[in-house]
Amino acid sequence: MAGARALDEPIALGAVHEPAVPRQAVGIGELDRVLGGGLVRGSLVLVGGEPGIGKSTLLLHVAAGIASAGGGTVLYATGEESAAQVRLRAARLGLLDGAPAEGIRVVAEAEVGRIMEIARSERPGLVVVDSIQTATVDDLDGPAGSVGQVRESALRLMDLAKGEGIAVVLVGHVTKDGSLAGPKTLEHLVDAVLSIEGERFAALRLVRASKNRFGSTEEVGVFEMGERGLTEVADPARAFLAEHDGPAPGSVIAPTLEGSRPILVEVQALVAPGAIGSPRRTASGVDPNRVALLIAVLGRRAGIGLASHDVYLNLAGGLTVGEPGLDLPIALALASSLRDRPIKDRTVAIGEVGLLGELRPVSGLERRLREAARLGFDRAIVPRATRDAISSPPAGMEVVAVGSLGEAVERALVAAPARVASAPARC
Ligand code: TYD
Ligand code: MG
Repeated sequence: MAGARALDEPIALGAVHEPAVPRQAVGIGELDRVLGGGLVRGSLVLVGGEPGIGKSTLLLHVAAGIASAGGGTVLYATGEESAAQVRLRAARLGLLDGAPAEGIRVVAEAEVGRIMEIARSERPGLVVVDSIQTATVDDLDGPAGSVGQVRESALRLMDLAKGEGIAVVLVGHVTKDGSLAGPKTLEHLVDAVLSIEGERFAALRLVRASKNRFGSTEEVGVFEMGERGLTEVADPARAFLAEHDGPAPGSVIAPTLEGSRPILVEVQALVAPGAIGSPRRTASGVDPNRVALLIAVLGRRAGIGLASHDVYLNLAGGLTVGEPGLDLPIALALASSLRDRPIKDRTVAIGEVGLLGELRPVSGLERRLREAARLGFDRAIVPRATRDAISSPPAGMEVVAVGSLGEAVERALVAAPARVASAPARC
C-alpha cells in the first residue's frame, strides 16, 4: 500500500498554530512553576521519589489545590494505604473541611480496570494513582510491582487520560540510585516526570521535572516538610545553605543555577588519610565520576595529591546538582579540607574544570553573583574567561578571575598559619 496515503502539505513554520494546551493551575506556586503553569488535561504524569520523601503528601496537596480551584473533583486511588490512613494525613494537612473534604474522593483500590470504571462514571478533573507499583491489571499474571503489571497498568491509565481528557498522576517509588523501582520504560511513556529530592530526615524538598512534554524541564520548586505538610520556601536561593558559625575547612559555597533560579549550595568535603592503595571515595548529591576526575586533576595539575586519602563529599540539604560549574567548588572544598585551611569568609566560587586544570566559563554568571551579593557574599572566584561577561559586578562584590585550578586554590583559601617548629607538617 506504499504511496496510498495522501502527502501532508508542509506549512511555513511561522504559520504553524501554537498548540492550545488546556491547563489547570494547581494553586501551589512552586509546583505550577515546575509543571509549566499547571496540570494539562489528558496528560499522564509520573511523580517519583524515595519512599518516605513526601510523594503522597504532595499529591494530597495537589488534590486539595485542584478541588479548591474549581478544577473538578479528584479521584485518589490508593493501593498503599487504607482510606482511613489517607484521611489521617489529610487531617494533618488541614483538609477536612471546605472544598477538599468534598472534592477529594478516596478509594482504596489498586486494580486498574476498577479505577478506570470509577473514573469514567465520576468524571473527576484529576486521578491520582498511589502508587503504580501497587497497581495491577486483573487479566494479567504476575505480582504487583512486576515489570509487566507496572507497564500494562500505566498503558491503560494513559488510555484513560487521553481518552477521557483527565489528568492522571502516577506515584512511583524510586530507589536510592535514582532509577524507578518498576521499569524504567515508564519514563518514556508518560508526558511528564517529576521527582522529589531531599534527605528523608531533613526538611527541605526539591521538586524537579526531568521530562515535560508541555513545559520546560529547567525549573525547580522548593518546599519544606513541616508538621502540617509541605510549604513553599519563601527564599529558595538561601534554603540549602547550611548554618554554621564562620568558615570551616572543606566548606565552599557555590552559586548554582537551576533553570532560571539561582540557588546557593554548600559543598562539603572531608579528606582523611586512608588505607594505601584503596582509598574510599563517597559522594552524595554530585556525580562520583566527576569527583574522581577532579581528584586526578588536583593531583596532576595543582600539586594537591589525594591518592592516599579517603574522600567524602556531600551537598548540604540533600540537594543533587548536575551542572559542571560545581567542579571548582568541589575541587576547592577538597583542597581546603586537605590543607585544613578554610575558604576566605563570605566567598563563593563557580566554574568548570578542564583536564588540564584550566577553568571554563559558566552561563548566567551575572545572575548568580547578584543573588550571592544579595545574600551577603562579597567575593567570588570565577573563571577568567567569564570576566568579560560581567560588565558590572554587583555592588560591593569583588570578582576574582582566575585562569587555573592551582591559582584558584591559592586565591580562595585563607593564608596558611605561620609554621612553628612543633606544628605538624602540612601537605
Ligand atoms: P509521605 O507523603 O507518606 O511519603 P511517600 O508517599 O513518599 O512515601 O510522607 C512521609 C514522611 O513525611 C513521613 O515520614 C512523615 C512526614 N510528614 C511530615 O513530616 N509532616 C506531614 O505533615 C506529613 C503528612 C508527613
Ligand atoms: Mg506514599
